[in-house]
Amino acid sequence: MTRQILVTNALPYVNGDIHLGHLVEHVQTDVWVRFQRMRGHEVRAFCGDDTHGTATMIRARQEGREPEALLEEMNERHREDLAAFDVIYDHYGSTHSPSNQKLVNEIWEALRGAGHVAERDVTQLFDPETGVFLADRFVKGTCPRCSAEDQYGDSCESCGAAYRPEELSNPVSALSGAVPELRTAPHFFVTLEDFRAFLEEWTQREGVLQPEIANWLMGSFLSEPLRDWDVSRPAPYFGFEIPDAPGHFFYVWLDAPVGYMSSTWDWCEQTGEDFDRWWRNPECEIHHFIGKDIAYFHTLFWPAMLKTAGQPLPRRVHVHGFLTVNGEKMSKSKGTFVLGRTYAEHLSPHYLRYYLASKLSDRVTDIDLNLEEFTAKVNADLVGKVVNLASRTARFLKNDSLTEVYPDDGGLFEAGAAAAEEIAAAYEACDSGRACRIVMGLADRANEYVEAKAPWALRKQPGKEEEVRAVCSVALNLFHQITTYLDPVLPRLGEGARALLGVEGPPRWDAAAVPLTARPVAPFRHLMQRVDPERVEAVVAASASSEAS
Ligand code: 2FM
Ligand code: ZN
Repeated sequence: MTRQILVTNALPYVNGDIHLGHLVEHVQTDVWVRFQRMRGHEVRAFCGDDTHGTATMIRARQEGREPEALLEEMNERHREDLAAFDVIYDHYGSTHSPSNQKLVNEIWEALRGAGHVAERDVTQLFDPETGVFLADRFVKGTCPRCSAEDQYGDSCESCGAAYRPEELSNPVSALSGAVPELRTAPHFFVTLEDFRAFLEEWTQREGVLQPEIANWLMGSFLSEPLRDWDVSRPAPYFGFEIPDAPGHFFYVWLDAPVGYMSSTWDWCEQTGEDFDRWWRNPECEIHHFIGKDIAYFHTLFWPAMLKTAGQPLPRRVHVHGFLTVNGEKMSKSKGTFVLGRTYAEHLSPHYLRYYLASKLSDRVTDIDLNLEEFTAKVNADLVGKVVNLASRTARFLKNDSLTEVYPDDGGLFEAGAAAAEEIAAAYEACDSGRACRIVMGLADRANEYVEAKAPWALRKQPGKEEEVRAVCSVALNLFHQITTYLDPVLPRLGEGARALLGVEGPPRWDAAAVPLTARPVAPFRHLMQRVDPERVEAVVAASASSEAS
């Protein structure tokens, strides 16, 4: 049965460049999407920039330009950075679009109409110099508990205390250095407790959330009354003005997930596709890929919004953990806060795709990029086990073709074909780490075969030409099978393998089940270089020096 699947990746904030932390998720999403396409399903993937909020407004002001100019420049940078890693979306939009405004207004009207909106006053710190209400992160001061200086308005990095910004001693605005004052303004709230029965059922529904997320929601948020969600900000704020409350704007997190829909909308406008077939169709599976830090937005607020708007709910929300580098939080001063573009200047994006995919699972645990292991793993697995199968055999079939009948290989190809569903199940569950391990097991056995047959020695013996051809036909078929299974992770390698063996068209999962015969073998072209550890060091050095500058 062909499934219709709509996939989204969390929308990156427009204010910063794509870094390796983002790429964990984009790679996970892209691998899953490519896998589903290979299986013949109808899949579309959407992303875009998350644009609204005080930070955008302030940065545009500081740069002396309109926010729209900033948005345009960053959107292009984000697209370029993702494309460098072969991360492909059907549409990469922006939450600052007419379609997003229209869709968020519709959802707002539904929330209001159903009586899920309350209004009350909020007292907040206000910067009298810039005229801006200050979010917690824009206030700094002395920790009320341990007296550490220069702490953010929500928590202390020194003693871990959590507090409200007005509790800081000697608070200053991080925007202007001015002493903030308390001001009161009306805000609008979504009364989330209204959705309790629905959320208790939906979050525990089989297959919707990973068990750790479902349990976490039950044990924390859902174990007490759900707090009202503050969804408006008073002017000035860069965002959409609330139609029935002039001078008030939707909080960035209200319109951000609507960006999934508006990105689809804009794609429909461009392609003539039917929006309702993708977003208002219970047959279409909606899959969100996100990090654990934004799980509650996607598993409490967002389903409540969709439900109120009468929209189908996500089929699954796939949550991943954070990325650490060398066992620690990414650090600018240590050069481990690496931008996608810095990495790509020095190393092949495919190494990173493979390394991340080999570490990702269906769990919410953090994953670590250990730079030594990165080099060792890519070299051992991809160069040593996979590419080697072709580089050591293809040249012996130069100006020749694969055998007319697939030779006896002792059951290797058949065993590989029999693993197809197990590998597919791992990809389906987002356990690409497991998929990679199974495939590397196949590669190990293929290499044992090549080693034992030693076609480089055989060919020196007279009368062994057909045997050499048979051995190389086996090796190249196993190579093709393995690169087919790895294609969601390593599409360029898959492309190279198909070009070598004259296989046309896009990659198909079932191509791994049928051996190739009687095909000319193209001249072998290098498919992958070894990782040079010096280049890894260069990435770290460049990341550290860009921080210093
Ligand atoms: O956490 C973030 O980076 C947000 N910009 C993600 C938004 S996801 C969606 F809701 F738009
Ligand atoms: Zn403290």
